[in-house]
Amino acid sequence: EKPITINTLRRMKADGEKFITVSLYDAPMAAMAQKTGVEVLLVGDSLGMTVLGFDSTVPVTMEQMIYHVEAVRRGNNKSLIMGDMPFMTYGTPTQALENATRIMQAGAHMVKLEGGAWLADTVEMLSERGIPVCAHLGLTPQYVNKLGGFRVQGRDDTQAEAILNDAKLLDQCGADLLVLECVPSELAKRITAAVSMPTIGIGAGRDCDAQVLVINDILGLTEQPPKFSKNFLVEAGDIPGALRKYAADVKSGIFPAEEHTFS
Ligand code: KIV
Ligand code: NA
Repeated sequence: EKPITINTLRRMKADGEKFITVSLYDAPMAAMAQKTGVEVLLVGDSLGMTVLGFDSTVPVTMEQMIYHVEAVRRGNNKSLIMGDMPFMTYGTPTQALENATRIMQAGAHMVKLEGGAWLADTVEMLSERGIPVCAHLGLTPQYVNKLGGFRVQGRDDTQAEAILNDAKLLDQCGADLLVLECVPSELAKRITAAVSMPTIGIGAGRDCDAQVLVINDILGLTEQPPKFSKNFLVEAGDIPGALRKYAADVKSGIFPAEEHTFS
């Protein structure tokens, strides 16, 4: 089977076919995702909270990210693997280049960075040197201390315009994907239409080109699950079934439903 590349994802956006992303952290889950046909695996720094017990993603280190990217890579040779760059490992373009190189060499095909216009030079630099970048806008969890909590972003017009402009700028700078987290559905829809890169939504409505959920939320492991997530294990009965149901419901437009979105 041919591996998924950024070209596959671009083609799917053009064809209006939704692709599936799961944030997961280990080899067996990565293998199961491959069997299910999940197009993109995100080794998210959410692992700080979902696996390591921290109360934010701020403490996550390069070593922890690399350890988990390697594990996911060993379990999967088909999906596109994206690795998060941890908090303050991409503060400058040079620092980003060094750390992104390590994540790529651990087995990722792309890195993900949180932030807007200030990342323009960094995205351009990585992109020009062969490191695809996924941007991440809206609720950017590494900013939790600056945002004053995990809250929906882009609800007022000024903020919404700022997010839209950041998305357009990073698109022009060569970003290949964009995660939109916890923004009103209407805004996510506008951004998805305005940029050439595919968008991946989480709490961003059904009009993104793709959806992402964290494996812990899909499997009901989260004590206080976020509004935008869904436990697919309840209906499906087993883990492979839960992944299949999530994928099928995204492809057919059943998930996310109104109850999982913000206005
Ligand atoms: O770390 C993560 O899992 C993420 C997704 C929630 C987008 O960044
Ligand atoms: Na993340």
